[in-house]
Amino acid sequence: MNIVLIGYMGSGKSLVGRDLAKKMKLEYLDLDDYIESQEKKTISKIFEDHGEIYFRKKESSYLKEVLDTCNDSVISLGGGTPCFAGNLEIIKENKNNKSVYLQTSLDELTKRLFIERAKRPLIAHIKTIEELKDFVRKHLFERSFYYNKADHRVITDQKNASQISEESISVLF
Ligand code: S3P
Repeated sequence: MNIVLIGYMGSGKSLVGRDLAKKMKLEYLDLDDYIESQEKKTISKIFEDHGEIYFRKKESSYLKEVLDTCNDSVISLGGGTPCFAGNLEIIKENKNNKSVYLQTSLDELTKRLFIERAKRPLIAHIKTIEELKDFVRKHLFERSFYYNKADHRVITDQKNASQISEESISVLF
């Protein structure tokens, strides 16, 4: 079985994924890290050199590769992965993949992402916290259509990574 973590940028997919894999003695794979290692470039550089459409094509083909080769793993996706190229359907069509949506509030996401926005190409240009909040509100609304199709959901606000992974285990089993 593979546990696939989905959620908006800043929802804690990587931190929780690592902790969850450790607790469950599973392998861990972060799709963004995998793309960076295969392409030998940071995600920011891929966006800069080739644009978002190229990134989405690569993201989708690496996702398929990872799902085909991983067994008994926790896989953290990028925030946009389930929202493009039929990726969510690909995840859901194999019953061995269990998806968990890490749901984080708009206020919490805005707070976290404002500090870290420089390394995220979709929001690196945003100057003020108000502008970021407006962007995330709209973007999250569009993406929730996909996120809400996950098999399970865990609310992450006011919880640390360990509490979120324990809650993920209890919704999964
Ligand atoms: C993206 C999220 C990023 C990364 C890329 C695009 C998105 O991953 O895949 O910058 O479209 O939301 P994280 O959610 O791990 O930041």
